[in-house]
Amino acid sequence: MATNNVHKLQEAREILADSEWEVVSLSDLGCHEDIPETGATLEDNALQKAQWVAQKYGVDCFADDTGLEVYSLGGEPGVRSARYAGEGHDSQANMKKLLERLEGQVDRRARFRTVIALIRNGQVQQMDGVVEGTIRLEPSGVGGFGYDPVFQPENKEVTFAQMSAEEKNSISHRGRAMAKLKAILK
Ligand code: IMP
Repeated sequence: MATNNVHKLQEAREILADSEWEVVSLSDLGCHEDIPETGATLEDNALQKAQWVAQKYGVDCFADDTGLEVYSLGGEPGVRSARYAGEGHDSQANMKKLLERLEGQVDRRARFRTVIALIRNGQVQQMDGVVEGTIRLEPSGVGGFGYDPVFQPENKEVTFAQMSAEEKNSISHRGRAMAKLKAILK
């Protein structure tokens, strides 16, 4: 998996735990670099990351890219989710900015979308996973990562950060995209 994000890696390992596959990370290959992510879309970024690793290490691999898309903000923060409040991957600052941008907004619908790019024998396949929900007025819960404390998936009363990892994975954007990956690998 073309990532060094320990949360994503953990989720991917949990999702593939009952399969014949073992997820190997970039650091397992001895790579601790930040992979370039300069695309204009989640699709571009996922492909860029997978291609970078495939070319550099000569291995088959997959990469994912995720964005939180808020309807009333025209899809923001989207592909800029990690650096919404500026460079530095600061989730608290990103959530703060999001809540400020939504102040007074009645329509708080949002969705998480994950795109996975898989490279096998030089062939590229892409798949995605989506979960719809709403942005809470304030953060709740301590689990998960990123925007989890402010995202309440549809038909649930709690945020992703208030769920067990298992419960989140069973309905999440990445869980759904990974389920498609798992089916393709099989
Ligand atoms: P990435 O580019 O796929 O690493 O994801 C971009 C950003 O989206 C991350 O830095 C997080 O802020 C956010 N994000 C991705 N996945 C999740 C998730 O499962 N829950 C909450 N936030 C997430």
